[in-house]
Amino acid sequence: MRLSAAVFCALVAVQAAVLLAAVSSAQAGELEVGYYSKKCRGVENIVKWHVSRALKANRRTGAALIRLLFHDCFVRAELPDSTHDVEKLIETFAKKNFTVEELVILTGAHSIGKTHCSSFRGRLSEPSSQITPAYRDLLNYKCPQGSNPVVDNNVRDEDYNVVARFMPGFTSRVRKIPDFLDNSFYHNTLAKIVTFHFDWTLLTHKEALGHVHEYADNGTLWDEDFADSLLKLSKLPMPAGSKGQIRKKCNVIKLY
Ligand code: HEM
Repeated sequence: MRLSAAVFCALVAVQAAVLLAAVSSAQAGELEVGYYSKKCRGVENIVKWHVSRALKANRRTGAALIRLLFHDCFVRAELPDSTHDVEKLIETFAKKNFTVEELVILTGAHSIGKTHCSSFRGRLSEPSSQITPAYRDLLNYKCPQGSNPVVDNNVRDEDYNVVARFMPGFTSRVRKIPDFLDNSFYHNTLAKIVTFHFDWTLLTHKEALGHVHEYADNGTLWDEDFADSLLKLSKLPMPAGSKGQIRKKCNVIKLY
């Protein structure tokens, strides 16, 4: 099942609104959805309107916002590395009170967006037991083009002609509308057609693999569980004793 564009817009918009509320209320020492209901009535609708407009202008905004939400909320866990194995990521997520299932659910966000070749260099020479050779060839074709080019997280959003050249059997799955948030990440993972080493390692962990199958089989369930997990992510508290910080560059920690 696919999320309609409207549902997707709404999801992103609500998350952005929640994030705004969370950031501000955190300064007052608490997290609360609807914090602005009296102070600034209708703020969620205002945010929703702007997010919808931004998405209409550029669908890529959706992926950027979701990733921003993840990075903003997952603070002080030093962010997950795409070369790590599933066990390491399970440990990282557990520190934030996220289960193996929630890790699998949230990683489904990789059905949209783009990634730089520098984020998956190792995949270019991984054995065929870890990556489908035709997909590895496609990545090896794309990555030397420019200093650090980007590829689509989801091969279904790749350029049709490139897919036709390297994976002709896959062309019927190329999407007319790219960056649609759906459960195709799980189908791609099972087929070993994913960019990150970490994504592939989901297949090596018994429980994680069970969830990959579960969400590949049931897109509606994933839609619902993804919304819940994203909401949980957006409510993560700031580290104890921290006042938080607004950074000009999100990955550069300001030392006081
Ligand atoms: C679990 C471990 C995770 C790892 C190792 C990981 C790693 C990465 C990496 C390396 C990129 C590409 C960055 C680049 O080269 O520009 C990426 C992109 C992305 N990630 Fe993840 N990620 C993880 C979890 C998540 C989660 C939990 C979410 C959201 C719920 C998420 C959402 C995204 C999105 C939407 C993009 C595309 C961003 C864009 O196109 O602008 N990721 N991720």
